[in-house]
Amino acid sequence: MQKAVDSFGKIDIIVNNAGYTLDSPIHKMSDEHFQAMLDIHTVVPFRVIRAAAPHLREPAKKEREEGKEVFRKIVNISSTSGTFGNAGQANYSAGKAGVVGLTKTVAKEWGQFKVNVNAVAFGFIDTRLTQAKVDENTMEKDGEKIQLGIPEQMRGMAAMLIPLGRPATPEEAAGGVFFLCSPWSNYVHGQTLHVTGGLFGGMSG
Ligand SMILES: NC(=O)c1ccc[n+]([C@@H]2O[C@H](COP(=O)([O-])OP(=O)(O)OC[C@H]3O[C@@H](n4cnc5c(N)ncnc54)[C@H](O)[C@@H]3O)[C@@H](O)[C@H]2O)c1
Repeated sequence: MQKAVDSFGKIDIIVNNAGYTLDSPIHKMSDEHFQAMLDIHTVVPFRVIRAAAPHLREPAKKEREEGKEVFRKIVNISSTSGTFGNAGQANYSAGKAGVVGLTKTVAKEWGQFKVNVNAVAFGFIDTRLTQAKVDENTMEKDGEKIQLGIPEQMRGMAAMLIPLGRPATPEEAAGGVFFLCSPWSNYVHGQTLHVTGGLFGGMSG
């Protein structure tokens, strides 16, 4: 947060986007893998927002005294797994549901400071997170090799399940986030925008 302030002089927009998956059925899921998903998807956004508090609240107080309204934006990235559930993702869906609760609460606390707080729940976006679950599709965290991707069978079902007939491109996914960072969303507050191509149900990461 300090680096952002040092670089840009102020903070206007925060997008809590970092995330990954550690899928397995619940009866095989370790405590560590459950906790890791809560950490990255709920605890990290909480800490980022808390660290940003003085940079968002103090200028807003000054602006209020001057009779000005300046809207600032927080967008938290959730998932249909968090809003509808998804088999194999008890940990991830809990973390992605947690961030929706966080979003709604901070919207209530910081509406007075004109900080719009919203979430975007993605469905199936074509990124490395949703590529085939193959050996090469991994990332490393704290020395641990993490398998990313979803089963090929699930990928194949996308066209049938998604009303728009295909996964989103990253650019299409970003469109929903961009809207919530723009002045056109100034009165959109405490919402979860589903960017899913019409899919209403969990299927992907
Ligand atoms: N791809 C999908 O279908 C989909 C669906 C629903 C939600 N999401 C969510 O969208 C967000 C973006 O994911 P994506 O699909 O673009 O995947 P991605 O793997 O392309 O991007 C995720 C980014 O998060 C970063 N990251 C992960 N863990 C981190 C950590 N501990 N510290 C710092 N950075 C970290 C990664 O380095 C990567 O740059 C995530 O929150 C993900 O859960 C994606």
